[in-house]
Amino acid sequence: MKILVTGGLGYIGSHTVVALQEKGFEVIVIDDLSNSRIEVLDGIQAITGIRPEFVQMDLQKKAEVKQFFKSHSIQGIIHFAASKAVGESVEKPLLYYQNNLISLMNILEEMVFYKIEGLIFSSSCTVYGQADTLPITENAAIKPAESPYGKTKQIGEDILRDVSKADNLNVIALRYFNPIGAHESALIGELPLGVPQNLVPFVTQTAAGIRKELSVFGADYPTPDGTAIRDYIHVVDLAEAHVAALDRLINKKNKANFEAFNIGTGKGSSVLELIKTFVKVSEKQLNYKIVGRREGDITAAYADTTLANRELGWQAKLSLADALASAWKWQLKQEKN
Ligand code: WQD
Repeated sequence: MKILVTGGLGYIGSHTVVALQEKGFEVIVIDDLSNSRIEVLDGIQAITGIRPEFVQMDLQKKAEVKQFFKSHSIQGIIHFAASKAVGESVEKPLLYYQNNLISLMNILEEMVFYKIEGLIFSSSCTVYGQADTLPITENAAIKPAESPYGKTKQIGEDILRDVSKADNLNVIALRYFNPIGAHESALIGELPLGVPQNLVPFVTQTAAGIRKELSVFGADYPTPDGTAIRDYIHVVDLAEAHVAALDRLINKKNKANFEAFNIGTGKGSSVLELIKTFVKVSEKQLNYKIVGRREGDITAAYADTTLANRELGWQAKLSLADALASAWKWQLKQEKN
């Protein structure tokens, strides 16, 4: 079973490659290295003993994508490759629409032509915006996205719904909540380029003295401690969800051409709760200050994972403390590099 993982040298992609290899899948990675490093291949190999085949490619280049599928027999695709920085997408919307949507459509064209078994799409809870009720189920309303990044996930799902129906493809969209943490070996992890936008890498870099202090974006939300709530899921649990989804498609257990599953822990944690947990597991004090809310942030989001638990036979096993401890171990490893 040769599985193509696009964006496979990225944060979630690399952890999924490890999980696939550990389950015996043969993996080939395409990555344009725009938001990842070739050394991630060494980390994957150090963990599993298997160096995945790697092709550096911009998936917007249709001729190169066609040539790739002509010369490789692919049974399944996990499509991570996309630009993902919410803030950057507001400044450069065209770059996001072109990269995220043209890449997806180039892949789909080959999938249809070669009748490839199935595709797992990297989607996001951002498609829900601020949901009306919590926890969020898969049939919660899809609200107008707050950013071009979020819109590319919504449009991507629409394209997949239409094409999978018209051409009888089998597609699963996994709507991630907030991925955090790193593989226990600390050989792979999150490599934010520049100043981290996401909370956890900013926390670990502050604790490591790389950042002076963490700004907590708002403590006036209608939540128990006033800070915003998210569903933080260990990236290793998230990687396992991709293997479970692929298994569902390969064994033709899917019940529709297009299915979507919320992938989270089902538990919400506030920013202050996360900070407190981090201080406990790292035994480091954290320098932070409360500032104003960040534009576009929602108050609270956490998943109802009933559907994924039942249909994928998957559920998150690792705790917030486990994830933060692994993020800290990974950060400390960076210092040594
Ligand atoms: C989490 C919480 C911030 C940084 C985004 C994307 C989502 C997905 C994950 C790609 C919020 C607060 C953050 C900081 C802070 N990305 N925060 N200080 O915004 O929930 O989700 O990343 O798929 O699609 O929308 O994640 O980590 O940026 O923020 O107080 O320096 O931490 O306000 O409440 P977010 P985040």
